[in-house]
Amino acid sequence: MRLVACIIGLICCGSIPVAFAQNNIQNQQAAKSTIIDKALLDKILDKHRQSFKEGKVADYIPELSKANASSVALSVVNTDGTIVSIGDVQQRFTIQSISKIVSLMVAVLENGEQDVFNKMGYYGTDKPFNHFANLETTGKPLNPMMNAGAILTTSLIKGTGEDPFIKIRNMIRFITNNEKIDYSRSVYNSERETGHRNRGMFYLMRNNGLIDGEGEDKLNNYFKQCSIEITAEDLAKIGFFFANHCIRYDGNKQYNNPNLSQLILSQMLIAGMYEFSGEYARTVGLPSKSGVGGGIAVSVPNKMGIGAYSPALDQHGNSVAAYRMILDLVKEKSLSLFY
Ligand code: DON
Repeated sequence: MRLVACIIGLICCGSIPVAFAQNNIQNQQAAKSTIIDKALLDKILDKHRQSFKEGKVADYIPELSKANASSVALSVVNTDGTIVSIGDVQQRFTIQSISKIVSLMVAVLENGEQDVFNKMGYYGTDKPFNHFANLETTGKPLNPMMNAGAILTTSLIKGTGEDPFIKIRNMIRFITNNEKIDYSRSVYNSERETGHRNRGMFYLMRNNGLIDGEGEDKLNNYFKQCSIEITAEDLAKIGFFFANHCIRYDGNKQYNNPNLSQLILSQMLIAGMYEFSGEYARTVGLPSKSGVGGGIAVSVPNKMGIGAYSPALDQHGNSVAAYRMILDLVKEKSLSLFY
């Protein structure tokens, strides 16, 4: 209201062109109409209920292959903090790579952005999430979204044993306002037993002097953070948090930090969907983060958060149905940043 009064005042004084003011008012009206209701989510979910048949549930971590391929859920935290969810909203699944945006937040809060990014790049990539990329040449991971950068990021969080993991878990509990959040022991064990590629990166980075210490606690913390169980609604809350300067959906401002959310959103935009990030920016046009558990968290800057879930993945490791549902929602409501 104050902004409208101010614009009207400025028009009366002749300080800004009338056309600009009109556009601005239209933009505000458009912003208001972006409140999303259940009917729209229902329509979109119904359309893509069968899309899972075109994907494949991840099985390179054996425990993930047990997911019910036909599960599907869609959730939105609106600009005003209200939540609408449909589909299998009670279904819990592992957060996987979406945890990387929260571990990046914790690592940067503790070490500062410069210290973290002295050890890795801000680069985008055409490589898959588990690629060794330039670890062998420059010795540094490309970015904190790919596995190598994420393992390194978690290793930078202070504390011994599982302390760094507990900090990540607690931050996810805070953002989702859900104290019950915990990790799946069976997925964790499955990741630890089969994650030799990640183990290879871990030792290469230790060899390069990027990771110090003994044993594999630091690697295990990464496996544990990936094994944290969440729902589509939790993902929507995470999307909302980073979309809104690290302010929680219920207005809690404990971590309010526009500079930090700007960093996280920029990484989500350039690398959150791995080698598909460029095409995704063209079609969806919003900072997003996927995980091989089948979830995608989306941030609509200064507006809302979207969480989508369906475990069958495409060749890039992104959920087929979740991507299609997000795309429809974005088109329906003109949510792309580049609209
Ligand atoms: O390290 C891994 O391979 C998994 N724990 C996480 C990978 C992942 O989620 C990639 N996302 N699309």
